[in-house]
Amino acid sequence: MLKKDHSNKFKIFVSLFEFIILFLVICEFCFPIQAWSINNQDGKSLFTNYCSGCHINGGNIIRRNKTLKLSDLKRNGLDNPDAIAEIARNGIGIMNGYEKFLGEGGDKIVANWIWEEAQKT
Ligand code: HEC
Repeated sequence: MLKKDHSNKFKIFVSLFEFIILFLVICEFCFPIQAWSINNQDGKSLFTNYCSGCHINGGNIIRRNKTLKLSDLKRNGLDNPDAIAEIARNGIGIMNGYEKFLGEGGDKIVANWIWEEAQKT
């Protein structure tokens, strides 16, 4: 009798566990991955969320000679992704830093994406 009780409890535990897993899987479908962890965002979505407001299509709506196009970047001494990541974190001139929005490593992810896109300009 006691033994049976135990196995019943175990079964309940297992189905509860299965239910939780199922619940998590359903959540994963309902909410986009970015709601779970900012680190999962790729460079493009980070850029869209935090940079494109002013840097539409890699331009600059405020300072026209400070775009994200390769020629401007190079002229302004930004000839590698790390230099861009630094600006993404801490800002430059009148631009604010976005460190607290980009999440851990987000500065490098978005900077690498910008650098790659800049090679096409
Ligand atoms: C609110 C508008 C705004 C947003 C949002 C913004 N920037 Fe800027 N950005 C500027 C301005 C203005 C400058 C020029 C700053 C200056 O020199 O005074 C600039 C300059 C830059 C430069 C230097 C470009 C050059 O050619 O010298 C880089 C790189 C840059 N931004 C990257 C980013 C990244 C990465 C993000 C997103 C994380 C971002 N910016 C978001 C306004 C913005």
